[in-house]
Amino acid sequence: MKIAIVGCGSRHQMFRDAVTEDYADRHEIVALCDSNPHRLSEAAKLVSKPGTNGVATYLAGDFDRLITEQRPDTVVVATPDFLHADYIVRAFEAGCDVICEKPLTIDLSRLKMIVDAQARTGRQVKVTFNYRYSPARTQIKELISSGAIGTVTAVDFRWHLDRVHGADYFRRWHRQKENSGGLLVHKSTHHFDLLNWWLGTVPTEVLASGRRVFYRPETAVEMGLQNRGPRCAICPVAEACPVRLDLAADEKLRALYLEAEHEDGYFRDLCVFDEEIGIEDTMQAHIRYASGVTANYTLTAYSPWEGLEIKFQGTKGEITHRHVEVHGVFGGVRDHADDDAITTELHLAGERPKMLDVPKAQGSHGGADPVMLGYIFNPEGMEPDKYGRASDHVAGAWSILTGIAANASIESGSLVNIQSMLRARNIRI
Ligand SMILES: NC(=O)c1ccc[n+]([C@@H]2O[C@H](COP(=O)([O-])OP(=O)(O)OC[C@H]3O[C@@H](n4cnc5c(N)ncnc54)[C@H](O)[C@@H]3O)[C@@H](O)[C@H]2O)c1
Repeated sequence: MKIAIVGCGSRHQMFRDAVTEDYADRHEIVALCDSNPHRLSEAAKLVSKPGTNGVATYLAGDFDRLITEQRPDTVVVATPDFLHADYIVRAFEAGCDVICEKPLTIDLSRLKMIVDAQARTGRQVKVTFNYRYSPARTQIKELISSGAIGTVTAVDFRWHLDRVHGADYFRRWHRQKENSGGLLVHKSTHHFDLLNWWLGTVPTEVLASGRRVFYRPETAVEMGLQNRGPRCAICPVAEACPVRLDLAADEKLRALYLEAEHEDGYFRDLCVFDEEIGIEDTMQAHIRYASGVTANYTLTAYSPWEGLEIKFQGTKGEITHRHVEVHGVFGGVRDHADDDAITTELHLAGERPKMLDVPKAQGSHGGADPVMLGYIFNPEGMEPDKYGRASDHVAGAWSILTGIAANASIESGSLVNIQSMLRARNIRI
């Protein structure tokens, strides 16, 4: 497969390394594209094979020329979220398939562009929902599908982002809804996708609330950071700030962002307490599904630990799954929890609760990324996927519709019906 990658920031590295290292015998990166010349040329250095002229590089304005000159089979889209739709549609129209980072896109008008272009061209987009591939999450899918707790009736799902990971969404492009859809789309697309996949259903109605309570100027004042600057690099109180990001101190961040910022003014370390931030840090949603299941969902972005807690109620019992990924932040303590921090308990009615053995795997995102990459780049070498983990534009669409409806509900204060929302925009999934 001839592959072009668009968006050569942090996340593209996973695809780049997979193709140039593990799957180099099957696939080839024929071109890279980015709006930032520095990041583009840095990425190209790492892709180029010794003894060749190197990989072809194109600035964003030359994407169509990239397609004409390099004729890729597949375009990997790893740009900021609001740009996914445009590149997907252009790739489809040029006869390419797409591998797209999550979220598929961020709003209904862009979703319509993708769905219509897919129907018109028949091309395929794979949305890389790596969370589905983590062995612990796959085990939950197996338990639910096998009827271990009968019919699932109600779910309580809480996701905690700590003050290191969570803060990162408030520093750069994610912090405005017009770029990321807010965390209910950008981040929760993973979580709502897991719910859709685990439960084998789709959302119908959403009632949500969302506020920004932590990443705001008042918190900085409470922390004694009155004279804070616009970004960490020039902040007079950086030394005292518990969420400071020192780009210069980290080799990767320096090369990828600090040394590239003169090109386009993309500052990776904007102050997380800025007034102008437009996304929420505290979100809750009540979701109804077509199957009749209901779910309560909470996402916070300033928790003292990172991980998830979920409880499935069923007609025969309940499953409780907890994963502490990181415990403790601030005061110099941020430890990654050990493997035992993933627990799954099966409690059947009339029996004692039973702790299950949770399968483990090595690699990023709880061992999910390497498995997903295997299915993307060498499906013939993998076992047939009995869990149906591959995601197309339909799964991608359903995973963002909960968040898009939640955003609409926060704005209106009312329950939002997803089918009515789709009908009003003439979107057919
Ligand atoms: N699945 C996961 O776990 C996971 C993790 C991280 C990021 N992501 C996703 O990956 C995507 C990229 O995130 P990131 O953290 O790498 O962001 P990033 O800001 O590090 O990289 C984005 C890149 O896109 C480039 N870009 C901006 N405008 C462009 C344009 N018009 N045309 C071409 N390139 C352009 C930027 O210069 C930058 O190099 C996002 O959609 C994000 O949601 C997914």
